[in-house]
Amino acid sequence: MARMTTPHTIAVLGLGRMGGAIATRLAAHDRDVVGWTRSGRAAGSVKVTEDPREAVARADLVVLALFDGPACRQVLDEVRDALPADAIVLNTSTVAPAEASALARQFGPSYVHAPVLGSVPSAAAGALQILAAAERSALDRIRPVLETLGTVRHMDDAATAAALKLIANNGLAGAVLALRDALRQADALGLPRTQTLDVLELGGLGALVARKRPFLLDGPAAAPAEFTIGALAKDMALLAAASDTPLRSAAGLADTPAAPEADFAVAATVPAVPAAVLAPLRAYLRGHATGDPAHFRGAFLPSAHIEGIREGAFVSWRLDEYCALFPGRPAPDEPARTRRIDAVDVHGTVATATMTLAHGADTFTDVFLLVRVDDGWRIANKAYHRHS
Ligand SMILES: NC(=O)c1ccc[n+]([C@@H]2O[C@H](COP(=O)([O-])OP(=O)(O)OC[C@H]3O[C@@H](n4cnc5c(N)ncnc54)[C@H](OP(=O)(O)O)[C@@H]3O)[C@@H](O)[C@H]2O)c1
Repeated sequence: MARMTTPHTIAVLGLGRMGGAIATRLAAHDRDVVGWTRSGRAAGSVKVTEDPREAVARADLVVLALFDGPACRQVLDEVRDALPADAIVLNTSTVAPAEASALARQFGPSYVHAPVLGSVPSAAAGALQILAAAERSALDRIRPVLETLGTVRHMDDAATAAALKLIANNGLAGAVLALRDALRQADALGLPRTQTLDVLELGGLGALVARKRPFLLDGPAAAPAEFTIGALAKDMALLAAASDTPLRSAAGLADTPAAPEADFAVAATVPAVPAAVLAPLRAYLRGHATGDPAHFRGAFLPSAHIEGIREGAFVSWRLDEYCALFPGRPAPDEPARTRRIDAVDVHGTVATATMTLAHGADTFTDVFLLVRVDDGWRIANKAYHRHS
């Protein structure tokens, strides 16, 4: 007959940032905790073993705090036949919805999928928000343990809990990328970093700025990472793949030059788009401002085409045809015209860019494909839409 008592002997598999904090807190709250982690590293004063099968052999509860779905699968495959028949598996790792439901199917009613909101300080303080999907009886049995770690929110099923966890982290990723934009713009305007952070702390990104100020001032070495760029990038890649719907933050974080082991806040400090990528875009802007086609010849590859819909029909100009449209002097209303670069995304030797040009009654959206050739970046092609 299954034990109905609250689990006392707990194995924690994965003693990284979260697993270490979870194991430490449970041990401090009178649970008999034994930890295991792949690297063999210690977690405070938590008792550890080098054999995950030994860790689970006597446990009534097995807590997973592993990097991703494949790590969960690998570790569970290794310990599966050493698990006591009535042990509950509590998975706090952030994994894909499909991975979560596959584990729930495989382990049945003894599996609790419970991704958590909140980082290392919340785990240490028992202030996590726990999105727990489980059969009522399993959840009731482990509730006192979960309540030592934070607040329990009951989810309909494992896939829903996993998906909502990814959605929650998209909020974090969006905030980091918004902060990156703010810091880049401030740098471009020559504003001092400390003063910029002081003012940002008063606004919508205030909580993030206050918590992460050391990383925003001094970079990755400022303090130990609590949640890494690699883990957040993993989550956004899982979200974009699960939804099959474009997600800017997935690409934005994947391209971060800082080490994946750096705290995620460091992703807000990556420098602006390199000037070399902007050079052909700025030459293109000068072409419009002066009406001198020489700037376009410097901006585009000779093979470029300029394409769009004109009066209902698709038109594709060669570069020569495009240059011939410009008279060599500014348009009469040039002082009233405005242009801005909206977005540039660099992926190694290729990039995309978008610009908005307000020319009299017409506003154009220009979409560029750029390539890095031997002597620098060039626009390979441009497509445009005219909003009248
Ligand atoms: N940190 C946070 O603020 C936070 C908050 C909420 C949720 N999460 C999620 O919680 C999970 C753990 O995050 P974390 O920040 O603690 O990550 P972490 O510090 O990188 O720790 C990851 C753990 O997974 C283990 N691991 C990785 N790959 C493995 C594999 N193939 N086989 C066996 N073990 C493997 C590591 O083992 P070794 O290092 O010993 O080799 C380590 O114990 C992740 O899913 C993360 O997305 C993190």
